[in-house]
Amino acid sequence: MKSPRLIITKDVVGTAAREIAGMVHAAIADRGQALLALCGGSTPAPVYTRLAQMDLDWSRVQLFFGDERCVPPGHADSTYRLVRESLLDRIEGAGPVVHRMQGEEPDREAEASRYAALLPQRLDLAIQGMGPDGHTASLFPGHSALGEEHARVLHIVGPKPPPLRLTVTPPVLRAARETLVMLRGADKAHMLQRVFTEAVDPTALPVQLVLGGLWIMDEDAATGLPKNLLTAEARRTSDE
Ligand code: 6PG
Repeated sequence: MKSPRLIITKDVVGTAAREIAGMVHAAIADRGQALLALCGGSTPAPVYTRLAQMDLDWSRVQLFFGDERCVPPGHADSTYRLVRESLLDRIEGAGPVVHRMQGEEPDREAEASRYAALLPQRLDLAIQGMGPDGHTASLFPGHSALGEEHARVLHIVGPKPPPLRLTVTPPVLRAARETLVMLRGADKAHMLQRVFTEAVDPTALPVQLVLGGLWIMDEDAATGLPKNLLTAEARRTSDE
């Protein structure tokens, strides 16, 4: 596994948007398109809105989802709705190709298979959040989905409402060229400390699946991190 790269900043939103834009530009320059997977949560929404204001060639971007709640796309709990309102509705000009997980589909098994078939073998970037229990995508601690090595998308029953969800599996996250976890707030500090100090065991701490990626966080979230991780490079604050 690659070593984690940490950025601790007062401006998580601006820093994450710039890092994502840089990865999108690089993927387009190298391979002609950028294949991105998005997540839900309160942290990414303003990042998506900032991205919509940036100079990106969205016509060369394909958007996928790392997970989705099993609700209709207009539902308040829909991750697609969050992405549409924070990003898609705000892009001027040609937008990305959007591959939505159809959470409203009653045959969830069929929907998981359909989505697995359209996911690229290798995403350029998987944008991830971390729940207070250490979950990422809809991979929750102790869930059998964490042991999945074949299916690339599963439908699961999780402990967090709404319980029915679709999620990518560990092989999809491990295959991504880049991963980015965004974190804000003191309520993330204890879990983040565990993620960076305990033995790597994604069954207990699922977000460790993307430990070797880029982590962008504020000072409050970083409070409990071991000093050796808090290098000058990690404190590369964009607003200083
Ligand atoms: C979910 C959430 C979840 C989210 C994290 C971080 O469906 O369970 O979307 O995965 O990404 O809980 O959320 P915040 O960005 O709000 O901290």
